[in-house]
Amino acid sequence: RARVPGAAAEPEVGMAEQRDEAAGGTAVLGEEEQAAAGLRVSIDGELAEITIARPERRNAMTGRTWTTLAHVGQNLPDSVRIVVLKGEGPSFSAGIDLAMFSPEGVPGERSMMGMVGDDPEDRAELDAAIAGYQQGFTWLHRPDIVSIAAVRGHAIGAGFQLALACDLRVLADDAKLCMKEPALGLVPDLAGTKPLVEIVGLPRALEICLTARTVAADEASRLGLAELVVPGAELDAAVADLAAALQAVPRDAAAATKELLQGAAGRTLDEQCAAERSAQIDRLNAMAALMRG
Ligand code: ACO
Repeated sequence: RARVPGAAAEPEVGMAEQRDEAAGGTAVLGEEEQAAAGLRVSIDGELAEITIARPERRNAMTGRTWTTLAHVGQNLPDSVRIVVLKGEGPSFSAGIDLAMFSPEGVPGERSMMGMVGDDPEDRAELDAAIAGYQQGFTWLHRPDIVSIAAVRGHAIGAGFQLALACDLRVLADDAKLCMKEPALGLVPDLAGTKPLVEIVGLPRALEICLTARTVAADEASRLGLAELVVPGAELDAAVADLAAALQAVPRDAAAATKELLQGAAGRTLDEQCAAERSAQIDRLNAMAALMRG
């Protein structure tokens, strides 16, 4: 799989860990790297569970969280086809660790402000850093996996964008989504604007972002921002049921169908019909090869 170009704070992972395909998140990322990024990764066969694990900070995330997420995506064992993103404690995520905007930043990491050059034309460092952060989000859309965000409590700013980076969202009934960035003088820049517009449409996306208001679970459901809303106590079980239903479909057919659906909006009807034919012929050839043994 492609490496992230220019990813800041790429975690160093020992070769032994990378080679170890045994179940468990340490096959992808050492325990120290998980802790440093505020993440916990567990892998069990077809299922990967990534937990944002800084509950004392309401799962606020740093640049390292995102570059590490990108690393996890690049190093997932081929067995994995479902990725569940969840938060530890009462909040999914309170977004970026606000210390990232202080001059000192977060210990061990460059602060956003520290990367602002004296010359406004000098944009390269910030551009590379944000591109590396975005890679932590964009892999969750890739066709060979289905990603599910399990959201309880607040998903603010980067937290909302992380939920939007997932293919599907299951919300606890206390979930609160908020695109806070414009209220802080910023824009949402973690790959969240495209899925938001695709899901709710431009006028509603504008209204949600430019008021930075909170969207509660029931409204999120009406807007298509949640596939399912359940009582908080049932969130894990609902996600497990959804994962099991997704796993019941043959994985190659699921990947090919996801790719078709993802491409539909960018194609004309004729082009989409051609893409359907091509994908189906691949499927039929694969089935015939199986029958021939
Ligand atoms: N960055 C750093 N620390 C945070 C963050 C954050 N984003 N969010 C919460 N914390 C810390 C709090 O400072 C507090 O620390 P303390 O115990 O040392 O005082 C601790 O987490 C618990 O937070 P509380 O505010 O006490 O928890 P509460 O449940 O009352 O509220 C809420 C939760 C609503 C999430 C609130 O903490 C909040 O509004 N946080 C800031 C959200 C924000 O503006 N995020 C940035 C969005 S923009 C972006 O992500 C790009």
